Amino acid sequence: APSLKIGIAGLGTVGAGVVRMLARRKEVIAARIGRPIEVVAVSARDRSRDRGCDLSGMRWFDSAVELASSPDIDVFVELIGGHEGAAKAAVEAAIAAGHDVVTANKALLAHHGVALARAAEAKGVGIDFEAGVAGGIPVIKALREALLGNEIARVSGILNGTCNYILTRMQEEGLSFDVCLDQAQKLGYAEADPTFDVDGFDTAHKLALLAALAFGVQPDPDAIHVEGIRSITLADLQAADELGYRVKLLGVAARSGDAVELRVHPTMVPKHWPIAQVSSVTNAVAIDGDAVALTLVGPGAGGDATASAVVGDLCDRAAGRSGSPFGWPVDTLRPAGQPTIQRHEGG
Ligand code: HSE
Repeated sequence: APSLKIGIAGLGTVGAGVVRMLARRKEVIAARIGRPIEVVAVSARDRSRDRGCDLSGMRWFDSAVELASSPDIDVFVELIGGHEGAAKAAVEAAIAAGHDVVTANKALLAHHGVALARAAEAKGVGIDFEAGVAGGIPVIKALREALLGNEIARVSGILNGTCNYILTRMQEEGLSFDVCLDQAQKLGYAEADPTFDVDGFDTAHKLALLAALAFGVQPDPDAIHVEGIRSITLADLQAADELGYRVKLLGVAARSGDAVELRVHPTMVPKHWPIAQVSSVTNAVAIDGDAVALTLVGPGAGGDATASAVVGDLCDRAAGRSGSPFGWPVDTLRPAGQPTIQRHEGG
């Protein structure tokens, strides 16, 4: 069978990881899917930087939009990030050109997912974003495919590796917030602008996408109650510890009558609960279905873990999977609505 030809825009930690993983797993993937996956083109800002991956034989584009529009690719992989600007223009161009899109960009999809999904549906192309939520944990596939027989009541968990890394190291080693954040950035966990991590917006973006998949509601991060971890002090963590708790930044999406309640905030979790023991960059997503309730735990950020999810999506596309980005026809997605119980207002 002909190879699946892909173009990758953005060669940071994740992009370079994808190139390396596809090279390393080339034969195995070709044998198991029945066709090879071939990176034919790339684009990034700096052409000369050494990224530790072999780019020979790949066509270089200076513009992500030009790469996305190129007739020489089947799938456009967007790893630029940011919910406006180049990433958005390139994804729109890829869809217009009739290419499937694989992206790790939760901010883009949380803000513009409905419009992009509508455009993709009209063109008969897909948008896959496993890498956008909880890094290497296959939670999108779980909600969209494996758990489709379930009615879901609640999806919740630790969705930001950077925050969990910071909280864990502060709590366990008494290090300052700034030192931990700096380290998370050096390890390639944090967003380009880490305020998205520490102020809770990245968690809100991911939660909005999970809610779309689980409940068929439109992602709208602006409608989520969001509180981050910036104001948490070592003294707070110590007090929580003495009372028998760990502090975790949780995202919660819960059915409440016909509505879905969405919130992101630091939460005191009893130390003996499994989620309290999820440490460092690890994420955990608890899904409460009527037949199956489970928790998926795994690496939530980092180059290789996130690349693993991108490669999984590419294999799906190579194997011919199709379907709506959020797992529901886009025109059936409804607003999340007002929950009947407002837990954070009044008494
Ligand atoms: N900055 C994100 C995190 C990357 O720390 O979880 C993975 O989405």
